[in-house]
This record gives sequence, C-alpha cells and structure tokens, in this order.
Amino acid sequence: MSSTELLVIGNWKMNGSRAALADFARAFSGVSIGCDAGLCVPFTLLAAAQSALLGTELRWGAQDCSEEAEGAFTGDVSAAMIAECRASYVIVGHAERRRVHAESEGQVANKVQRVLACGMTPIVCIGESSEERDANQTKAVLRRQLMQVIRALNHDIRSVVIAYEPLWAIGRGQIASPGLIEEAHGFIADAITFNAKHTAHGVRIIYGGSVTPGNAAAVFTRRLVGGALVGGASLRAEDFMAICHAAATCAQQRLAAWTQ
Ligand code: 13P
Repeated sequence: MSSTELLVIGNWKMNGSRAALADFARAFSGVSIGCDAGLCVPFTLLAAAQSALLGTELRWGAQDCSEEAEGAFTGDVSAAMIAECRASYVIVGHAERRRVHAESEGQVANKVQRVLACGMTPIVCIGESSEERDANQTKAVLRRQLMQVIRALNHDIRSVVIAYEPLWAIGRGQIASPGLIEEAHGFIADAITFNAKHTAHGVRIIYGGSVTPGNAAAVFTRRLVGGALVGGASLRAEDFMAICHAAATCAQQRLAAWTQ
C-alpha cells in the first residue's frame, strides 16, 4: 500500500449487542482515530451499527455474505442487503467459516465478487493450520488461497484487503512472532507482485490472530503489515481504541521515516 495509513478491523464474530455499539459510539464520538478503522458485526447489528457509528470515524461491515445475488436461499444474506446498511467491509473466507461451514475456495472467490459488485471492500482471510505449518505447507496453502482470488478478479486485486490469519494464532492468546508475520506478509506480497497485473503496493495486507493493545505496536512496526484484523480485543471500545492508537502512531513513524 502506498498510503501510510493503517487499517484496523474488528471482527465481533458471534458477540456484541446494541449496548456494546452504544459504548463504541460514545468512546469514538469526536475522536480523530488516525487510521482507517471499522467493526464487522453480526448481521442483526448492521442497521444498529449504521445509526450508532455514523457520527464517528469508524466504518462498519459484515462477517460473511451469500455467494448468490438473491433468491431461495433460506437464512442467507446477500451482499446487496449488507450494502443497503451502508457497510464498507465484508469479511470473506474467515478460517471459522472455511472450517465450520466447509466453505470452498470457489465459494470464497464468488463471495469476493459479490462484495465488490456492491461497492464494498472484501477482507479476504487466508492462513495455514498448525498441521500445515508443521508439514512445511504454509507457502503452498497461502499461494493456493490467494491465487483463487487473483484469478477470479482477472489478476487485479487492488480493491481487496488480504488478511493473513494463521489458524493456530486465532483466539488462543498466542500471536505469531513478528518475524514470522513479516515472513508471511513478504511471501504474500511477492505472490501478488508475480501473479497480479499490479505490484503489492496497491494492496493492503493485514494481520489477524490474538492482536491485543499489548502487542499491536510490535505487529504494526513490521514491514509490509498494513493493519490488523482483531477478534477478542475488538469487543471493548477501550481496547479497540488502544489498538487504533498504536496503528496511528506507527503510521506517523513510517511517514517520518519516508520524509527524512
Ligand atoms: P482473535 O483476535 O480473537 O485471536 O481473533 C482473530 C480473528 O479471527 C479475527 O478475524
């Protein structure tokens, strides 16, 4: 990403309430965040997020969408319905959806196209399991997951955010080491540069997996980290605000280093 601005996205998963949104609205009201930031809430909270967060710099989004445009798909929610709530982001292919709902890479690619067609930004999650890492398969897994999206978008993924989320670091309190994050982001950036029509500078690559206020600065200062996808620590306004502050500070430091 050529911009120094970082992106911090909260993934509330199956948590949250209107009361929690009201807390965020109070905490972020009148605050200049210093980074791009948003909350991906459960579908039932999208309309509430739209009214609660409108007066803040926080954006909002969903955690999934249907791969179909409309029709007889009981229980599903389309990208167009999400866009009607003025959402900016939709998380696609989160590890929990790939695992619990057996989402295929083809489905993930279809969903990415639906999100883009409705004018929102897909946040595409990719990442290896601990078994795949142990078997030295990390790069093969990342390449496979990434290539599906690159091909589906005709080799132009500049409108997509890639979230590197190693499965073994999600919800465990065990963050990947900064060196490992940098290595994975470097690999993803190279894969984009080699396989897309453009370089990786046009694509935000963010990290997810046990990011907290305590470790966020160490993550953001690594090369090629464009932000964070935050689960547990995005549920409390105070914690999320602290992570956004860490992102803003890091962006200022990057800008200072570049303009020296
Ligand atoms: P945690 O931050 O709770 O580890 O969750 C990460 C995640 O899955 C975000 O999408």
